[in-house]
Amino acid sequence: MKPTTLALAAALAALAGAAHAQGAKLKVGLMLPATGTYAALGTAIENGFRLYVDEQGGKLGGREIEYVKVDDESDPAKATDNVNKLVKRDNVDVLVGTVHSGVAMAMAKVAKDTGTLLLVPNAGADAVTGPMCAPNIFRSSFSNWQPGYAMGEVVAKKGHKNVVTITWKYAAGDESVRGFKEAFEKSGGKVVKELSLPFPNVEFQALLTEIAASKPDAVYTFFAGGGAVKFVKDYAAAGLKKSIPLYAAGFLTDGTLEAQGADADGLLTTLHYADSLGNPKDNAFRLAYAKAFKLQPDVYAVQGYDAAQMLGIGLAAAKGDVSKKAEIAAAIEKAKIDSPRGAFSVSKSHNPVQDIYLRQVSGKENKLISVASKSLADPGRGCKL
Ligand code: PHB
Repeated sequence: MKPTTLALAAALAALAGAAHAQGAKLKVGLMLPATGTYAALGTAIENGFRLYVDEQGGKLGGREIEYVKVDDESDPAKATDNVNKLVKRDNVDVLVGTVHSGVAMAMAKVAKDTGTLLLVPNAGADAVTGPMCAPNIFRSSFSNWQPGYAMGEVVAKKGHKNVVTITWKYAAGDESVRGFKEAFEKSGGKVVKELSLPFPNVEFQALLTEIAASKPDAVYTFFAGGGAVKFVKDYAAAGLKKSIPLYAAGFLTDGTLEAQGADADGLLTTLHYADSLGNPKDNAFRLAYAKAFKLQPDVYAVQGYDAAQMLGIGLAAAKGDVSKKAEIAAAIEKAKIDSPRGAFSVSKSHNPVQDIYLRQVSGKENKLISVASKSLADPGRGCKL
């Protein structure tokens, strides 16, 4: 570098330090879907995140929080441009996002390349806490493998032998099915057919006809958001609900029950949250959320709330200085996060180690039936940390 460039760089660094010292706002880049089949999920995550920040008086680690928002449309083709806008144009201090696994993988790549702290408040892409894991990437949600694996054990225990799976053909669906299949076949079951359609298509009819013709003992599925609403309604309308039991990762019935109505009644799903946990943290969270947003919370709201808690823990340890990356990571790694789902900590690859609950839809709630898998950790295959 030329001396003048060096001087400029030094001046800029000093300015940045001064800005922090004077308590400049901390810019949080919220990259979430505001449109499309996952729009409601994005809203719930943002609500949860803001609720925690508001409970802290609008500050984390002593710094006031400012939000910069991008609608990622759950579109992987636009993801790299969207995340680069936040990091390079808006100069965000922290990235929070997103719902869709394909979009999250693009975010993880940019976070890894630039060293920006990334908190993933939903997307389960196994790779994010697998081969793409990094010291500055944490997840407050789950890996796609986790609920799938837990359900594989449940369905085997029920005595079902032959299962057909149906999902969207992208990382979330594929990995959810893979987790299910791993546990189910280990216990002697067989996945006899794997059906899929492109995300976010909802033309289920031909596939439902194929399920009816195959007559499996049961069906396992991953769908979420608007697509999940339609799938549950179509499954019932095709007459399958009466004849072939449907099991799913809990996203199928989370945040969707108002729209699904009676067609969802009785469905069994596995997830790291349920509507009737009844622990003190969950009770307080549910009350505060309902009061603030005139809505019942769901798993997405919990994940958003916990992403903010994790950021708060990291920033408190670094006294609000996001450049202190090692301090931030160390604090989150050793934390026990007081989540509405029950307290959890993160694995070596930065994914929650958590109980996976078996739930059943009753009325407008996903009621807790039992703990399907205690302290389930994603294997973190391919992560070197
Ligand atoms: C994902 O793409 O990883 C994903 C999307 C919606 C969900 C769960 C996982 O509800």
